[in-house]
Amino acid sequence: MGNLQNISHIYRGLLKNSRAFASFREIELDIVYSDLSKYISYDEFILDPMSGYGGGMVFLGGKGYKTTNIELNPPAYFWQLLINPQNTQSIIKIIKKLLNKKIELPKINETFSLTDNLFSDIAINHIKLLFSIIYEISNKNKILSISLLLPFVSRFANYVKSPTNITHFKQGGLCSYLGWEQDFHSYLEFLSNRLSKDYISYKQQEHKNILADIFQVKLSEKYRTFVTSPPYPNYRDYSKLFKIENYVLDNIILNNNTNFEMMIGSNNVSGKTFGTIQSEKANLFLTELLAKAEKLKVKNKKSCSDIKTYYHPYFAQYFYNIQEAYRKLDSMLTNNSIGYIVVNDNITRDIIVPVGASICDIFNSMGYESKDLDTSQISHYGNIGRSATRMNSKHTRHILKVWKQ
Ligand SMILES: C[S@@+](CC[C@H](N)C(=O)[O-])C[C@H]1O[C@@H](n2cnc3c(N)ncnc32)[C@H](O)[C@@H]1O
Repeated sequence: MGNLQNISHIYRGLLKNSRAFASFREIELDIVYSDLSKYISYDEFILDPMSGYGGGMVFLGGKGYKTTNIELNPPAYFWQLLINPQNTQSIIKIIKKLLNKKIELPKINETFSLTDNLFSDIAINHIKLLFSIIYEISNKNKILSISLLLPFVSRFANYVKSPTNITHFKQGGLCSYLGWEQDFHSYLEFLSNRLSKDYISYKQQEHKNILADIFQVKLSEKYRTFVTSPPYPNYRDYSKLFKIENYVLDNIILNNNTNFEMMIGSNNVSGKTFGTIQSEKANLFLTELLAKAEKLKVKNKKSCSDIKTYYHPYFAQYFYNIQEAYRKLDSMLTNNSIGYIVVNDNITRDIIVPVGASICDIFNSMGYESKDLDTSQISHYGNIGRSATRMNSKHTRHILKVWKQ
């Protein structure tokens, strides 16, 4: 099995450990399962309305449950398709054909490129050619061809990643194409082995993946059970985790243009408005944050104005969007529903951000009962570098259960 040295760190994490930023952990889902298994039968679908990389699908499918997974970010959705057991045999077939020596992969005549852009013209042309070969080999299965190519496209990108911030890329720079074929083969072999192994561990193969914004999606049936984890308020633009892949989808192979405005937790707050936040805990936190700004007024003018003009509106918008998303989720559920939410409370300006407690407030206000099944201290996966230690320190993880009789 080849190495994955030239695969982007996010996909390397997904390929090797089935994890990326803010994925479910097995230990969390074990706790959910020990409760859920008492109530849920195998013939109903379990919903994850913001399903990321499909951690719920893999785990629950492994236990014998069917799942429906909604996700807004296209690369995360395409990753779900790649690991959906219904697609495994087709994907492995495509990989086998691609690894066959008779298949001629398109050549890149230059050994490197240097540009200010994310991709050179050579790379753009090459990705198009590579895609069309995979597309033909797959009997014109566009969705699977994209799923298969996407984790590899950053191999052709000109970028420098930030050593301290996972969502930051510096576009432009050098890209060496030397040895890309070996890297591609290593990737395909690794993926094929991984999918074959995963396939055996799925007890249930029926899983739906839906690329949609929770605020817009319309489902044909109601769900009794959901298992999910919310996007976190880390003032990051999560779509940038996949900036390269989204660029390829939008400009090279699909003309997609996803609207990331409603990606909850993203840090684009300027000029946006929001409505009333019902959660008492969220409002207390927002008041405390403003009080902190007032305190800093004399000693640290910059911090004071940062809180007022940026952090406060950011968190207010976050809490409002989470509230509205879960209201929408409630409309997708039956009136005897049960849900499990894995959530982390992080710390900002030395104040705990009460994400878990405010989610309980939101569900209580919709007529649900709630219970904290498990609380523990963890450090968050996914940050790199010393400057992230403030956010890294002491997260409280809650596993919440909400239910309606
Ligand atoms: C914490 S992650 C879920 C991770 C997942 N539990 C896993 O194990 O991979 C939250 C997800 O919510 C998605 N999301 C954010 N806003 C959304 C929206 N408006 N509609 C649908 N999904 C959204 C994000 O793209 C992100 O993938």
